[in-house]
Amino acid sequence: MPEEFDAAYWEHRYRTHPALRRPVPGPQLTAETDGLAPGLALDAGCGEGADAVWLASRGWHVTAVDVSPTALERAREHAASALGEDRAHRIDWVEADLTSWTPPERRYDLVTTEYVHAGSAPAELYARLAAAVAPGGTLLVVGHHPADEHTAARLSEHVHFTADEVAAGLDAAWEVLTAENRTRRSEGHGGATLHDAVLRARRLP
Ligand SMILES: C[S@@+](CC[C@H](N)C(=O)[O-])C[C@H]1O[C@@H](n2cnc3c(N)ncnc32)[C@H](O)[C@@H]1O
Repeated sequence: MPEEFDAAYWEHRYRTHPALRRPVPGPQLTAETDGLAPGLALDAGCGEGADAVWLASRGWHVTAVDVSPTALERAREHAASALGEDRAHRIDWVEADLTSWTPPERRYDLVTTEYVHAGSAPAELYARLAAAVAPGGTLLVVGHHPADEHTAARLSEHVHFTADEVAAGLDAAWEVLTAENRTRRSEGHGGATLHDAVLRARRLP
């Protein structure tokens, strides 16, 4: 993992920034998975848990992984208050480094990862995440597109990718359903226009 985005970086970032007051799930996740029947999901790089909680509220059982203990602590608290104790048990929070942690193969009906700048070899990470998708299941990868001037100005270039680059790592066992550069208006950052790379693919049954 490059020094700037290692475990210490993320932990320090969460410790020095207040918890999100109202964690909201990513718009690409909600748009791309809305019609899926709930099952087992993996949220890789879950942060403060907004995506995992949203999925659990819709019936998914989620394994939510992050390298930052502070983020996971906040995520647990958010799940307990948003879901109640009963449904909060639908989420297993796992502290692990995605650059070395390998999820079980062909296990999850949905594997999702949003804006995770995890290491200098993203293709390897996405290959491991893709391998974790069950037959008939969905892979969703969302990140910063190279056209995103806002993040390009402050993040190193290896953070950016296109959906086609991720799709190129998938073989004939996959059907690519979405591969787009999608814009959205930022809630913060002065309302800047952000560009997301959005890749959704389905492993054929
Ligand atoms: C920009 S945040 C995005 C959080 C969440 N996915 C979202 O969309 O709101 C990136 C997250 O990825 C986590 N992360 C980064 N590198 C990681 C790694 N190598 N292993 C596990 N988690 C990592 C960070 O701790 C952080 O919570």
